[in-house]
Amino acid sequence: MLFTDVIRKKRDGGELSADEIQYLVDGLADGSLPAEQVSALAMAIFLNSMSFDEAGLLTIAMAQSGSVLEWQDAGLDGPVVDKHSTGGVGDKVSFLLAPIAAACGCYVPMISGRGLGHTGGTTDKAESIPGYQATPDFALFRKVVASVGCAIIGQTADLAPADRRLYAIRDVTATVESVPLITASILSKKIAAGLDGLVMDVKVGSGAFMQSMSRAEELSRSIIGTAARAGLKTHAVITDMNEVLGYTAGNALEIAESVRYLRNEGSEARLDEVVRALTAEMLLLTGIERDAAGAAKRVDEAIRSGAAAERFARMVAELGGPADFIDRYEHHLPTAPVIQPVYLEQDGYLHSMDTHAIGNAIIELGGGRRVLGEALDLAVGFSDFKQIGDAVDKQHPVAMVHASTVEKANQAVQRLRAAAAVSPVPPEARAVVCRTIDAA
Ligand code: URA
Repeated sequence: MLFTDVIRKKRDGGELSADEIQYLVDGLADGSLPAEQVSALAMAIFLNSMSFDEAGLLTIAMAQSGSVLEWQDAGLDGPVVDKHSTGGVGDKVSFLLAPIAAACGCYVPMISGRGLGHTGGTTDKAESIPGYQATPDFALFRKVVASVGCAIIGQTADLAPADRRLYAIRDVTATVESVPLITASILSKKIAAGLDGLVMDVKVGSGAFMQSMSRAEELSRSIIGTAARAGLKTHAVITDMNEVLGYTAGNALEIAESVRYLRNEGSEARLDEVVRALTAEMLLLTGIERDAAGAAKRVDEAIRSGAAAERFARMVAELGGPADFIDRYEHHLPTAPVIQPVYLEQDGYLHSMDTHAIGNAIIELGGGRRVLGEALDLAVGFSDFKQIGDAVDKQHPVAMVHASTVEKANQAVQRLRAAAAVSPVPPEARAVVCRTIDAA
């Protein structure tokens, strides 16, 4: 098969056959297809999309491009379930939800992604914990899931390797925001992880790949429908991404915020609502709880009792991180040499944020990739973010920037100022958990 013919077919709006999709997936997995040809096809798919059938074939082929995990023989006494986000800025939900769900009786083998486009990656964030093995072998992954109840790792070489390569190419070729490509990317990893159920956090807004509610609903239906074909029961929760989620955005900074949350040292209200809603949905999906009130109560108990913090600490230690990480995270996490406040030029109320631009500002600081395989500065980003509706003035910074040099800090200050709009009166409050979709 000539791959240029496959590219041409999609470029001209045609539908790829099962053989053509398999050829693509094989060439991705064994590295025989060069990045420039894959990039061209990704752009053709981005522009001309894929049918439901094509997306389904791509999903299954990518899921089967490496090992597929099985949990039947692992002796687990609860359901194997996961959550995956379509990507946002400041989205540290996984580090909270996985240990909470584990403390509630779930087993969460979470295979996460690296930064994608302007969004941060859970795998990159995990790597800011010294010693943490984000890509362990399967034996260790299974052992940690079985003993702790959760393990957050990145894609290992033999888990959906075709997606791993396509994901990295999409990251640097502006081909991320495609419903079939996102569907296949997420579900290939989740099917390969051998789950009983999946809760999707579909982000909508200026910091999401889906900027409108109708596009978020389209993506939710695509994921739920494709997952159902593969026998994976999935619910989707659409959540707001029109502002940074929580107080921080940047790899190590988000880990620190996650630890403070788990230690019950205060949490940003929107982040807390998203974490609780998604974890409760996992309990309902798996039948651990029958109603929303019971699920909410169980989640609350796991957080307040410290049981979730204890799971997180064990997960970190068993994956090679410091045994005292939860107690001494500030000592262990990398910190940036330059930290300075960002003041907006007007007094008033924070009205809106161009959250995509804030994600890009973190990339410019060195916290995300501009080219394939680039090493990251895990310490940089923003902390102490004000929320939309908060008062801002010359005394109260909208955030603190963490940078490697004064020059980079100054650039980030300018970017954040340009991304934030101020109004004389507070804007109307917006729901953060927008809606749940549980049927195709
Ligand atoms: N998360 C993924 O794993 N893949 C995407 O394409 C988007 C979010």
